[in-house]
Amino acid sequence: MTPPAADPLAGISFRPAAAADQAVITAIIREVGINPLSLKWPNFLLAVDAATGAVAGTGQIKTHGDGSRELASIATRPAYRGRGIAGAIIRRLIAQDAAESTAPLYLTCVSTMGPFYEPFGFRAISAAEMPRFFRRLQGFVSFMEHFVRRDVTLLVMRREHEPPPGR
Ligand SMILES: CC(C)(COP(=O)(O)OP(=O)(O)OC[C@H]1O[C@@H](n2cnc3c(N)ncnc32)[C@H](O)[C@@H]1OP(=O)(O)O)[C@@H](O)C(=O)NCCC(=O)NCCS
Repeated sequence: MTPPAADPLAGISFRPAAAADQAVITAIIREVGINPLSLKWPNFLLAVDAATGAVAGTGQIKTHGDGSRELASIATRPAYRGRGIAGAIIRRLIAQDAAESTAPLYLTCVSTMGPFYEPFGFRAISAAEMPRFFRRLQGFVSFMEHFVRRDVTLLVMRREHEPPPGR
C-alpha cells in the first residue's frame, strides 16, 4: 500500500491579524507587488509558519462605502507558494464572510488571474452587474489602460453565497 501523501499545509496555521502584524502585512503586499491601498490589519487573516512564527500568506475582506465586500490582498510569500496556502486563506475568508453576510463577495484582479479564482466560485461580471464602487474603479482603470498597457485588463469577479432562486 502506498503511504498517504504528506499534507502540504502541515506546519502552517491560520489566525486573524493583530495590530503588531500591520508592518509585516504592508511589507508582504509590497513584496508581491499588488494593490497597496486599504491594508487595515483588523480585516486580515494570516497564514503563519508554526515553526518560526513568520507570516507566510495574507488575505482580507474589506467593505466599501457602497456596502460591497471585497476579497483582497491574497498573497503568499515566494518560499511558501504551491502548498495551498492561498487556497486555504480564500476558503476561510469565504466561510467567514458567509457567516456574516448573504451579500455577494467581489474581487478585482488582472485578467490573467481569473482562472485562479474560478475554482472558488468567482465569475467575471460585466460593468452593468457591478456595484458602484467597482464600476467606478473599472472605468478609471480602463481609462489608464488605454494609455499604459493594452494586454492586461482589470477583471471584476463575483461569488454568490446563496444559489440563485429556483435552483
Ligand atoms: C497567486 C498566489 C497568491 C498563489 O499562492 P499559493 O499559496 O502558491 O497558491 P495555492 O498553492 O493555494 O494555489 C491554489 C491553486 O491555484 C493555482 N494557481 C496558482 N497561481 C495561479 C495563477 N497565476 N493562475 C492560475 N492558477 C494559479 C495553483 O496551481 C493551485 O491549483 P491546484 O489546487 O489545482 O493545485 C501567489 O502566487 C502570489 O502571492 N502571487 C503574487 C500576488 C498575487 O498575484 N496575488 C493575487 C492578486 S489578484
